[in-house]
Amino acid sequence: MRISVFGTGYLGATHAAGMAELGHEVVGVDIDPVKIERLSRGEVPFYEPGLPELLRKHVESGRLRFTTDAADAAAFADVHFIGVGTPQVKGENAADMRFVNAVIETLAPLLTRPATILGKSTVPVGTAARLAHRINELAPVGEAAQLGWNPEFLREGFAVEDTLRPDRLVLGVDRANPGHVEHVVREVYATILARDTPFIVTDLATAELVKVSANAFLATKISFINAIAEVCEVSGGDVAELADAIGYDARIGRKFLGAGLGFGGGCLPKDIRAFMARAGELGVDQALTFLREVDSVNLRRREHVVEMARREVGGSLNGTRIAVLGAAFKPNSDDVRDSPALDVAGKLHLAGADVRIYDPQAMDNARAVSPTLTYAHDLRAAVSDADLVIVATEWREFRDLIPSDLDGLVAARRVIDGRNCLDAPAWVAAGWTYRGLGRYAA
Ligand code: UDX
Repeated sequence: MRISVFGTGYLGATHAAGMAELGHEVVGVDIDPVKIERLSRGEVPFYEPGLPELLRKHVESGRLRFTTDAADAAAFADVHFIGVGTPQVKGENAADMRFVNAVIETLAPLLTRPATILGKSTVPVGTAARLAHRINELAPVGEAAQLGWNPEFLREGFAVEDTLRPDRLVLGVDRANPGHVEHVVREVYATILARDTPFIVTDLATAELVKVSANAFLATKISFINAIAEVCEVSGGDVAELADAIGYDARIGRKFLGAGLGFGGGCLPKDIRAFMARAGELGVDQALTFLREVDSVNLRRREHVVEMARREVGGSLNGTRIAVLGAAFKPNSDDVRDSPALDVAGKLHLAGADVRIYDPQAMDNARAVSPTLTYAHDLRAAVSDADLVIVATEWREFRDLIPSDLDGLVAARRVIDGRNCLDAPAWVAAGWTYRGLGRYAA
């Protein structure tokens, strides 16, 4: 099939390469000429394991190309995916819909033959119905341009795997006028569906809600365990052991019960806020009030680590040297959007600490958003003469650290394990002051 993907960020670029891998002819579209130029050379402008290989393979085979020209994409493809961002509006909770709207305003007037438009972006419920109406108004081909909603659940760091082997596919269609959308989507994903991947076809609103509900649930799970961590800390409990114990209950499950610095990134934080904002507009704000608490528990983790650090260095951060290991919002990603690690580093810096940050992949992005912070070129430089080491992102390189790696370098043997990822007893046995979150309480 001939496919276009609008937006070439983490989602769009991966989806475009994934569709080529499934055997389709694909064009990726973006308004950023620099991105398009790099992608056309087979270069991925962000860190995503496995994607550079996949991209190069299909750029070289000629099955995948990139353009800034929407008219080219409209003329070429019969299926158009929308994978542009819906970031948080500055100073508000709502999602910024301007990029999604712009794709429709640009693409729809160019549709002169039957086409299927499939939304992947995370949007407030009701968006798809509004866009379907707008496409109808703008497309020369009229009702033969049809919209479906096909939310994406990919995780950064596993984006290729999640695209090629998703645990389920969801499609929202206009139930009053379903047309050919389901048929087309079955053809697009034929290889995936042949493996008996669950395929849930719903109305447009349900499909939109599936995505935000999934993210709200994951965020709630993380904040739940972090709330319990707060109780563990004042009562002498150990949240990691507790999570293991409750996680064996199949109804609960151990995944996403990792207590620590909490969630960040380009999705979970802004999605729960946009969900609350939308519920408010729909007059059911009370239904999602609990998400406000989920958000506050999460943000409290960052303050908590700063307070822990202050305590560990003797009451004042001013003039102390602190190594922050990690800047990305999670390992296997160079994404620093709403990163708990970078937030903590910034707060320590503001409190007067001399902070040295090191991250295996996210240094350039971190420097771009927080240029006033100090970055070390490697782990050794970051921890040299440190009065305190904070592990803020659980990269393998940090998880695998053993006390003797740092012993001769640091000024004081103190570590805060912001992701509960170190072997605590080993650090304690080596004479370090070890502080986990929700465990080994001070
Ligand atoms: C998330 C959803 O998982 C994905 O389905 C959706 O499509 C986009 O949003 P992503 O943002 O890539 O994906 O990251 P995810 O792996 O979900 O982690 C989110 C945040 O939660 C990270 O900051 C991570 O460190 C944190 N987290 C995760 C915890 O603090 N504890 C956990 O147990 C799990």
